[in-house]
Amino acid sequence: MKVLCFGSLNIDYTYKVDHFVKKGETLSSESLQVFSGGKGLNQSIALAKAGVETWHAGSIGEDGRFLLEQMEEAGVNTQCVTVLKETRTGNAIIQNDKEGDNCILLYGGANQAITEVQVDQVLERFEKGDFLVLQNEINEMSYLMEQAHKKGLKLVLNPSPMNEKIQKLPLEYVDYFLLNEIEAGQILGQDVREGFDKEKLTQALQKCFPHAAIVLTLGEEGSAYIDRRESFQQPAYKVKALDTTAAGDTFTGYFIGGLLRGQTVREAMDMATKASAIAVTRLGASPSIPSLAEVEAFKVS
Ligand code: RIB
Repeated sequence: MKVLCFGSLNIDYTYKVDHFVKKGETLSSESLQVFSGGKGLNQSIALAKAGVETWHAGSIGEDGRFLLEQMEEAGVNTQCVTVLKETRTGNAIIQNDKEGDNCILLYGGANQAITEVQVDQVLERFEKGDFLVLQNEINEMSYLMEQAHKKGLKLVLNPSPMNEKIQKLPLEYVDYFLLNEIEAGQILGQDVREGFDKEKLTQALQKCFPHAAIVLTLGEEGSAYIDRRESFQQPAYKVKALDTTAAGDTFTGYFIGGLLRGQTVREAMDMATKASAIAVTRLGASPSIPSLAEVEAFKVS
């Protein structure tokens, strides 16, 4: 059984700043570093590091070839990545502040140039029971989900970054949702900015998607899991955050990777929590994703 992650590949320009730049302000940054990123690429690397056979599909421009090398180094099969001649690779301008928080400006580039023909050609290589992992940084998502569902692939959706396109997707085909409270609220049409009850939120999601398993990620508060058989809370591990970029992607990759390696849901949630705790102590997107050995050696303080 294989995992296909069909998603974005970005060049991340990460600026270290005192605070996020405000409207009308010109701010000097302390440093600029260029990393491989994109929610799709990050999740592929986390899946491969978690020890499952991972294929990545998506598009880049000629300027993004180094992203392929980094994925291959991590053990990701990149045969399904298309290199476009006339289009730039997607990129992200990331501000990383002194608390370790970030804000991200995206340019879609090649990530928004996916075609139906490309989707068909990629899916030909996969069969019933294989997993398809998706985020929301590429176009043709509905077509991709419809075709994958027809073939009997298991669908994993991390609806991030959340926007109006998500509501139009065939969400009833999704087997696993991994999302935060804002994304959950938007899917349910609830405003959670003023506060929410995590049990009620996960239960409402489960009611809406009774066949799916749902993982609600809550940052420093950990995460919550619910499916038809069980529901539980997973506490976070306390660490000093340097950069939270790709922490959610690391969680997704290690959670799905753990399940596919035969871990129980509780074991996979714990493993994913440890992996993302390590990721936030390191700078950058995909370079912050730990190896399986590092996650297994993680000491709870
Ligand atoms: O989730 C983190 C990622 O979001 C970054 O790597 C950036 O490229 C954006 O896609």
